[in-house]
Amino acid sequence: MPETNRQVLLKRRPNGMPVPEDFAIVDAKLPEPDDGQVLLRGIYLSLDPYMRGRISGQRSYARPTELGEVIEGRVVGQVMRSRHPDFREGDIALGGYGWQTYSAVDGKGLIKLDAAAAPISTALGILGMPGLTAYAGLKTIGQPKAGETVVISAASGAVGAVAGQLAKREGCRVVGIAGGADKCAYVTGGLGFDACLDHHGELAGALDAACPNGIDVYFENVGGAVQRAVYPRLNDFGRMIMCGMIAEYNDADPRPGPSLVAAVRKRLKIQGFIVSDHAALRPEYLAMAAPLVRSGALKYREDIVDGIDNAPQAFIGLLQGRNFGKLIVRLGDDPTRS
Ligand SMILES: NC(=O)c1ccc[n+]([C@@H]2O[C@H](COP(=O)([O-])OP(=O)(O)OC[C@H]3O[C@@H](n4cnc5c(N)ncnc54)[C@H](OP(=O)(O)O)[C@@H]3O)[C@@H](O)[C@H]2O)c1
Repeated sequence: MPETNRQVLLKRRPNGMPVPEDFAIVDAKLPEPDDGQVLLRGIYLSLDPYMRGRISGQRSYARPTELGEVIEGRVVGQVMRSRHPDFREGDIALGGYGWQTYSAVDGKGLIKLDAAAAPISTALGILGMPGLTAYAGLKTIGQPKAGETVVISAASGAVGAVAGQLAKREGCRVVGIAGGADKCAYVTGGLGFDACLDHHGELAGALDAACPNGIDVYFENVGGAVQRAVYPRLNDFGRMIMCGMIAEYNDADPRPGPSLVAAVRKRLKIQGFIVSDHAALRPEYLAMAAPLVRSGALKYREDIVDGIDNAPQAFIGLLQGRNFGKLIVRLGDDPTRS
């Protein structure tokens, strides 16, 4: 085992799009687990858009990351030493332990994973928080019905890919929006959406052509120009699932006019939602989704970057649409993959 723990700290709060200088990469002492704790070696670190909010220092539904702190994030890791009765050396587990290669963490709150049931990295994506977000947003707000038209932005991403496949299984016409021809080809050819529109091109006319009966449900992941094109095309009694607005997370100044970002954070009745409100749906979602992932009926794609030192640059890429699939950093060897 190495003697040091490599960590990424928040050095300064980004102004607009984050830059590598906003982060500091340091070597700290390897932590010692106390009673009730385990020493976890990180294997996979999830990079997610919500982290942009945490490092901004804005008041929100969660505590911001303070300057000098390890950036938070969910990690799948291996137990190296255990002082908790439920965990043994070698166990694979999921927890929220941040951008670092090792952590000493309470056994309470750590979820043991079964590598035989699904690749362990899926606990960060399709069978983790993003998958549950797609399920909860559709089930509690969108409630799509057969024959309706559902539009999904960031359609090739961690949340969008699941949302679109689930809406398709309900018998809806599903139209994705994604950045670029490769992502659009994957959304239709790989994921089975009925159409996918490239938001780098002209969107308004393309939406009219792809949605001849208007839009009944919009799964909002992006905001900005995409939202302005979709919004006027919603039908009477349409439902807008206010999941996120990544295109606006790096605005240094507020945009003119009312911003709908608040709808996500404050759960205004448009209706915004935060996945942690729906933790009770997790068992139901996993019971439905895990067999479909195993059989290949529910498809997913991961974008795996190697090494914690590359986490800041990969995170900046996520905010610019350079990831293609669920973005994950490999922190160390995965003993479950040969
Ligand atoms: N409410 C909740 O509890 C909750 C939970 C999880 C996630 N979310 C939200 O869900 C959304 C998707 O998250 P994810 O984890 O699935 O990420 P993701 O889709 O895997 O990755 C982000 C994608 O957003 C798109 N994007 C980035 N900047 C954009 C811009 N300026 N204009 C248009 N598209 C842009 C890019 O795709 P393209 O290249 O295709 O544009 C990028 O690949 C985010 O807004 C996130 O904050 C909310």
